[in-house]
Amino acid sequence: MIHAKGTDMSNHSLSNTQKPRIAIAGATGRVGSTLTTLLASDPVDLVALTRQPDAAQLPASVATAGIDFERHDTLRGALRGVDRLFISQGSSPRQVDNEIAMIDAAVASGVRHIVKLSASGPATRLLPFAWHMQIEAYLARQPVASTVLRPGAFTDLLKRAGTAVVSGSWGGAAGNGRVNFIDTRDIAEVARVALLEDIEPESQRAYHLTGPRAWTMAQVAEEFSRLLGRSVTYVHRSPAQEREALLAAGLPSFFVDLLVGLDQAFRESVLGETTSTVEELTGKAPRSLTGWLTENIATFRS
Ligand SMILES: NC(=O)c1ccc[n+]([C@@H]2O[C@H](COP(=O)([O-])OP(=O)(O)OC[C@H]3O[C@@H](n4cnc5c(N)ncnc54)[C@H](OP(=O)(O)O)[C@@H]3O)[C@@H](O)[C@H]2O)c1
Repeated sequence: MIHAKGTDMSNHSLSNTQKPRIAIAGATGRVGSTLTTLLASDPVDLVALTRQPDAAQLPASVATAGIDFERHDTLRGALRGVDRLFISQGSSPRQVDNEIAMIDAAVASGVRHIVKLSASGPATRLLPFAWHMQIEAYLARQPVASTVLRPGAFTDLLKRAGTAVVSGSWGGAAGNGRVNFIDTRDIAEVARVALLEDIEPESQRAYHLTGPRAWTMAQVAEEFSRLLGRSVTYVHRSPAQEREALLAAGLPSFFVDLLVGLDQAFRESVLGETTSTVEELTGKAPRSLTGWLTENIATFRS
């Protein structure tokens, strides 16, 4: 059922006007929430897809529809009349099946352009990269225009280090590898541009999205130290030590695999490249790691 915040609009006509109808799957997520807020000011007919339409913290003007990626029968009804679809599901062991079901529902519903949030990285067995490769390969074979966004590591991954940085150090198995962190707001801005463009039905695009430069964890620690005015260090762990520490912290094993795999990608600098794509598409330089740390410094101070 599709409704505006707090209003039952099940009888609301979906056949509308000239405005493109855009659905955002993952509208409450890190990229999806910014994207939804941006598109709310554009001349589009927007619907945010979420498991909890009443709890979603989105602009009041945005219509919502309840879906659950895990319940594939909920997907098609939410896509009725939709021209363009953004797909981002938070990491899940069922992500491949779920996103493929969403792609199938979109094609069956007549969606003409799918923008999928993926991940940059090599062809690999590591998760979540391997999941995204499978979904991308499936999407590429479908009769629908597509744009795949392949960002590097999100800057806000560093929030996980918050408590540890407060006490003076954080650790991991990233070694001396270089990582180019990207601000999720820049990904959202690229997604907005991709969704607003009228593209050809045969179009299949992929964008590699990065921040302005790559950093080693030691350099990130120096930046923390400079901004906090006290010494912060990065403690090197082996992958086995990191796995043990994450399991001891009570994280589910699939998530531990993701984080240890991510550290391998960091260690090998496979997410270290710098591209000019964000600036070319949005007209603005990507946000810097220093800017993000400065905005979020309270998280690391106390
Ligand atoms: N973290 C990184 O550094 C990084 C880098 C590159 C790519 N990525 C990719 O970015 C994507 C998003 O990751 P994230 O961690 O940033 O996610 P996130 O922001 O936490 O977003 C999770 C979103 O997924 C939706 N969702 C989750 N399970 C759902 C379900 N069963 N049914 C409907 N919606 C569901 C949530 O919607 P509701 O809760 O509202 O239902 C929420 O909007 C992932 O595919 C990840 O691989 C991440």
